[in-house]
Amino acid sequence: MNKIKRTNQPSDLNTSSSFQLNLKNKKITVYHFNNLSSTMDFAKETAEKGCANLTVIVADRQTKGRGRLKRTWYSSEGGLYFTVILKPDIAPSLAYRFNFAASVSLNKILKKHYNISATLKWPNDILVNQKKICGMLSEMEGDSCKINYINIGIGINVNNNPTKLEPTAVSIKALIKKTVSRKKLLTLFLYEFEKTIENIDKNNPVLEWKKYNTTINKYVKIVTTKDVLTGKAVDVDETGTLILKGKDGSLKKVIYGDCFHHAN
Ligand code: BTN
Repeated sequence: MNKIKRTNQPSDLNTSSSFQLNLKNKKITVYHFNNLSSTMDFAKETAEKGCANLTVIVADRQTKGRGRLKRTWYSSEGGLYFTVILKPDIAPSLAYRFNFAASVSLNKILKKHYNISATLKWPNDILVNQKKICGMLSEMEGDSCKINYINIGIGINVNNNPTKLEPTAVSIKALIKKTVSRKKLLTLFLYEFEKTIENIDKNNPVLEWKKYNTTINKYVKIVTTKDVLTGKAVDVDETGTLILKGKDGSLKKVIYGDCFHHAN
């Protein structure tokens, strides 16, 4: 079990171990930690013990932050690292929509409140001038009939300087030349996200995602746990599946993977 650690270091996030946020439809609880191995691990434990829909786990630093496909997510102080626990009453076949809803919501907030024009790389990266400002990772538990929980982990480069370890990354602070309140950013995001998922069974966020995507029409390499696929990304269908056209003209559907853009 992770222990709550308190430090005397200043933080613009509430330094108590939890706080409440009033969203449009719901009051939610945010658990804040100075250090965690990964908010994904703590969120899994929390979800399995039982918690409300839209419970949030946030950490100032992660010692074992993870990215997709078991990559490390470097989580130095100043970034915003959190996991939203969702317990939706929705068909498991629609679970993919929450990841796209998260990307679309953050994209909206970056533009509206920070004047940052971002693009969306399949499946869930947010880029500014092709540099990564945010990565997302989701983990789901359930069966073909019922979702027990979906945990969406989000790492945003806010006031940290990610470029030493990740030259192809960028932070909000580097872009707007100002230190940003992570608590405000988290609150804005959660408020927007709750609105986006309000009627998610009827409103598919993939349509909005496609308006800002930077992957369709690019030559890509897709790395999955089993395969490396190359070709031209010709579409993303309404289920969020990437349609890849190979050199021989054949079309393949790709449902997950890490995507790298190429010139040709
Ligand atoms: C990726 O781009 O590969 C996904 C990165 C996801 C990082 C976030 S930070 C908060 C949450 N906790 C983790 O360990 N990972 C996610």
